[in-house]
Amino acid sequence: MKVGVIGGTGRIGSRLIAHLQAAGHQGTALVRSTGVDVVSGEGLREGLDGCAVCVDVSTPPAFDESARRFQEEAMSSMVEAGRAAGVEHYVVLSIVGCDEVPQVPYYAAKAYQEQALADSGVPWSVLRATQFHEFIPDVMDWTTERGVVRLPSTPLQPVAAADVVNRLVEIVLGPPTRARANLAGPESLALDDLARHVLALHPDGRAVVTDENAGLFAAVPGRELTAPRDAMLAPTTFDQWLRDSWPA
Ligand SMILES: NC(=O)c1ccc[n+]([C@@H]2O[C@H](COP(=O)([O-])OP(=O)(O)OC[C@H]3O[C@@H](n4cnc5c(N)ncnc54)[C@H](OP(=O)(O)O)[C@@H]3O)[C@@H](O)[C@H]2O)c1
Repeated sequence: MKVGVIGGTGRIGSRLIAHLQAAGHQGTALVRSTGVDVVSGEGLREGLDGCAVCVDVSTPPAFDESARRFQEEAMSSMVEAGRAAGVEHYVVLSIVGCDEVPQVPYYAAKAYQEQALADSGVPWSVLRATQFHEFIPDVMDWTTERGVVRLPSTPLQPVAAADVVNRLVEIVLGPPTRARANLAGPESLALDDLARHVLALHPDGRAVVTDENAGLFAAVPGRELTAPRDAMLAPTTFDQWLRDSWPA
């Protein structure tokens, strides 16, 4: 089966393509470096030629309000080009709880993306994952100043990117579900404590200070981003990932 992967050179996309190839399928990366822009639609129709499935694991360039415009353009381009190319299944990777935190523009844009796909009339599936283990060091860097990482105690339930890809492959190779499936890591931890785990196992001279007003996740004091009741729980704990897969 041929699968077009918008965002196929990214953290998830590159792993997804490797898994598909290993399983005897053909995954093709549809990204700007291969002449495909999901926002303008340039190259997408040709890129999806012969693809039975189109997966979108691309990411808007910023976490601000511009993410909404990216998703509006991307969803419209993907569905239009996919229809013209005869794509039979559209899959999007989204975020657990994204529709419950409209105060976070990037997450509101992901909720828009899901709904636009569901409303488009094409056969679809959505996998919602929690924050990746690999994402936590990035979050720490955003709020590091003079050797201090300031982070709120937002409850998260991060998941390893490798576990996300394993579940994504199953969905991509299965029939359209017209549903949102949730995937989370095995345990919930406060964001500031996740940062402490990172620095305990990989000390780099920084210290963590709890600051309920620091960074993007300060807007989410509740448990909206942790596993809902129906979530599938992936096996890899954060500490296991820190020991086995560092650096990301
Ligand atoms: N980070 C998390 O913790 C998390 C959690 C749950 C879900 N997700 C979702 O998972 C997905 C994948 O995340 P990731 O970490 O793998 O992303 P990533 O590593 O940042 O990769 C983004 C990909 O998007 C492509 N891209 C960006 N703009 C594009 C455009 N205009 N046209 C075509 N391709 C474009 C990039 O390639 P080029 O730049 O070469 O075009 C790259 O291949 C995202 O949808 C994200 O919302 C993330």
